[in-house]
Amino acid sequence: MLHDEVVEVFAPRRAPVDVAGRDDALAVRLDGPLADVLRLRTAVAAYVSLHFDVPRPRSLTSGDHLARIVDAVYASLRVAGSSSFRFEAAGSDSAVFARLADLLHDATGLLHDPADGQLVIRVRRGARPTGDARPTARGARSRPDDARGRAADVDPGWDVLVRVGPRPLSARTWRVADYPGALNATIAAAMVRLGGVRDEDRVLNLMCGSGTLLAERLLAGPAASAVGVDTSAEALDAARANLAAAHVRATLVAADVLTSAPGPDGPWQAGASDLVLVDPPWSGLHGDHASAVDVHAGVLRAARAAAAPGARCVVVTHEVKVMERCLREASALWSVRETLRVFAKGHHPRVYVLDAV
Ligand SMILES: C[S@@+](CC[C@H](N)C(=O)[O-])C[C@H]1O[C@@H](n2cnc3c(N)ncnc32)[C@H](O)[C@@H]1O
Repeated sequence: MLHDEVVEVFAPRRAPVDVAGRDDALAVRLDGPLADVLRLRTAVAAYVSLHFDVPRPRSLTSGDHLARIVDAVYASLRVAGSSSFRFEAAGSDSAVFARLADLLHDATGLLHDPADGQLVIRVRRGARPTGDARPTARGARSRPDDARGRAADVDPGWDVLVRVGPRPLSARTWRVADYPGALNATIAAAMVRLGGVRDEDRVLNLMCGSGTLLAERLLAGPAASAVGVDTSAEALDAARANLAAAHVRATLVAADVLTSAPGPDGPWQAGASDLVLVDPPWSGLHGDHASAVDVHAGVLRAARAAAAPGARCVVVTHEVKVMERCLREASALWSVRETLRVFAKGHHPRVYVLDAV
């Protein structure tokens, strides 16, 4: 997912490479401006990555090494300003990091705020045996490596990763209204890509909450229409505010999608949606495990009732076992094209891409 988007956005001369030991990160050499990373929708965060062939972090305070870190900090600041920084590193409260913080403060004027610093600087054991000064940008947290492998007797050195921007890329500027249980925008963007973005699509977002999926879909490209349905007035108010901040338009409908059916006309219409996006309630937030079967079975039926011939439906859920069971029982309505496991704050929800049968 991220790989495809990185290739699309940067058209890099060299393909992005997987990061050793991680399944949620990529490393890519940027040929164009670093600011292009702000165009990534499916990356949680991007970092300028530096590798140092040094035995311990203390060596990073020496002139040449420090200059490279300062350059990377300025590269990040040129893309988006920050007023403070913090380290994410084992031993970040040690005297060595206090010294490094003083030097970075002197060089950049940024305040060292160990708890809430905006610009994140990660320092960790390197994955590569040799030095490589090139700036790279990555999705999510990452550690570059490639086919070189790592000989057991070679000191791996240290990597310094300077995040681009004061906030993760997943923190969208359009999110002006918070909503409990709001979907991570990076996951929403991935769902939108999985569902396909077609200008002629009539898009329906059942249980739309604060409008994350609608915002990400409409920012990804034009749509013939976009409709969000939710029972909660609070959710619809939040969605209205977020969609306005994103400068996109959707019709919002207050309705219970499990007990009411789409009408023959109007915005939420039977058989008239090409893409249905769903983020149903899950245990503890807007729902409970006991009702999960009813909710998932019901929303699959509601999505199918609204679906046009050939429609796609993309669902994210934490209730994986429940969803699998409901999909087996709904095999006359939807066929499963693809599933994707995603990571969200310690949870592992799953995304299902379905085709109307
Ligand atoms: C996990 S939240 C969706 C969050 C949303 N994706 C966002 O980013 O804000 C689930 C939503 O389903 C709504 N909901 C629960 N039962 C519903 C029903 N029967 N009909 C319509 N909406 C329902 C809740 O009000 C809640 O907003």
